Amino acid sequence: MNKQFLDDVNAGLSANQKYLYSKYFYDQAGDALFVKIMNAPEYYLTNAEHNIFKNQTAELIKAFDVKNKPFELIELGAGDGTKTLELLKYLQGNFEFTYLPIDISENALTKLKNRLNREVPEVNVITQQGEYFQVLNKLKAINETKIILFLGSNLGNMLDENARKFIKQLADAMNANDKLLIGVDLIKSAEIVLPAYNDKAGYTRDFNLNLLKRINKEFGADFNVVNFKHTPEYIEEEGIARSFLTSVVNQQVHIKAINKTFQFNKGERIHMEISRKYNDAILSNIFKDTGLKQTMVFKDAKNYFADYLFEKQDEL
Ligand SMILES: C[S@@+](CC[C@H](N)C(=O)[O-])C[C@H]1O[C@@H](n2cnc3c(N)ncnc32)[C@H](O)[C@@H]1O
Repeated sequence: MNKQFLDDVNAGLSANQKYLYSKYFYDQAGDALFVKIMNAPEYYLTNAEHNIFKNQTAELIKAFDVKNKPFELIELGAGDGTKTLELLKYLQGNFEFTYLPIDISENALTKLKNRLNREVPEVNVITQQGEYFQVLNKLKAINETKIILFLGSNLGNMLDENARKFIKQLADAMNANDKLLIGVDLIKSAEIVLPAYNDKAGYTRDFNLNLLKRINKEFGADFNVVNFKHTPEYIEEEGIARSFLTSVVNQQVHIKAINKTFQFNKGERIHMEISRKYNDAILSNIFKDTGLKQTMVFKDAKNYFADYLFEKQDEL
């Protein structure tokens, strides 16, 4: 049993404003649902970032400045690796590197490794299961040049103050001239953003409800998912999308593993995820005083998404 997960569920459902952490979305069913979300027509994020990786592959790799230098290509929260594959195809056979995808989901990593063995067999792939924060310290021990990828606006799942701490820790694990490529969704209108979190096929709804099913399965809870509605919102002025599950009845849910019952009032919400959108000012505020300097930015044809390249500065 995952004790940390259970403690987090207990704390989240005991809080005044109930919450669950989105990092727990990704069990086997969650991984598969996320792939469906990425392929849904409303989820513009993946296409937009893929557009950058497909059309600006050579420029990205040139900016990494790794010609004739062995390096480690490290990816945090790699998922299914579709976008990274564009880089790997280009790098394979021409550059000396190892690809190190890191993900909390063992299942996602196994699938990714099989896919890469098929599609880019010459690439040396070493997967690592774990949370971003756990693996940051291990990164420090790598002496070769590090190119770190943090794509898919994964940063946006953190509150700004946590994102700042995370980037600071990441920067501390980097050496001079190491680089970080960070993909972020840009602030845009609600007509575009909100449907991405409320697709017609209902994949995002199922993705959120799947976390309740996961709690049922792993901790003997009795969530009845038909009693919860997926109610996302997006506040354009803030640039933040939030996902909630709203209880549609007064109900009680029991979790056997902690022998505890939780009351949900009709209309009460469980906060599931934030997806922050960015602009230059918000991002530079997060990177302020981290020792990382922005060197380039790559945008898709529609200007929906941006991949910013940062470089670790020499300590003075
Ligand atoms: C939104 S998906 C994005 C995947 C990929 N980066 C992309 O752009 O398509 C997030 C991925 O990060 C992983 N993940 C989420 N929270 C994590 C955490 N705290 N530590 C490590 N991996 C995490 C998930 O398992 C999932 O594969």
